[in-house]
Amino acid sequence: MEILQTAHSYLAYVVLAILFIAVANAITGLMGNRMFTLEKDFRISLFALILSHIQLILGLILFFVSSNGLAAIKELGMGGLNSAARLLAVEHPFINIIAIVLITIGWSRHKKFMEAKKKFKTIAIFYGLGLVLILSRIPWGQWFN
Ligand code: HEM
Repeated sequence: MEILQTAHSYLAYVVLAILFIAVANAITGLMGNRMFTLEKDFRISLFALILSHIQLILGLILFFVSSNGLAAIKELGMGGLNSAARLLAVEHPFINIIAIVLITIGWSRHKKFMEAKKKFKTIAIFYGLGLVLILSRIPWGQWFN
């Protein structure tokens, strides 16, 4: 439980970094009219997908085992959670699941296109939205404590 939280906490740096790299790469690819390569562009996007899914799995487990997750909702009721507790138990898990669904949709959609421009655009939009959603619900206070 403790180790899960630590893993989720450290992996967060990696996930945010790789998502940022994937989005920046897609935007510069689009702007620069670059080719979409397997060695670089495909790989970066796939890494970001995989790491987000590992974080999703850790987060889902945490939600069920941590006292700050489902247990908090059960104990206090939805209405009884203050804003910090609601962020951890409700908003962060819920919004991040949506974010990772968006990232996954972006990944599958980009593969359907042949043109580099469309691939980059799909990644930029879906990964970008996912990243913004994730950033909007990070428990910053608890993370840096
Ligand atoms: C890419 C997505 C995610 C990122 C970057 C992320 C990041 C974080 C960070 C930085 C913390 C604070 C850790 C700390 O206290 O040091 C946290 C806590 C937590 N996260 Fe996530 N998370 C993500 C996805 C999820 C998902 C999908 C779920 C659940 C479905 C989830 C459930 C939780 C829970 C329950 C906590 C509180 C743990 C505790 O205090 O015991 N996370 N997350």
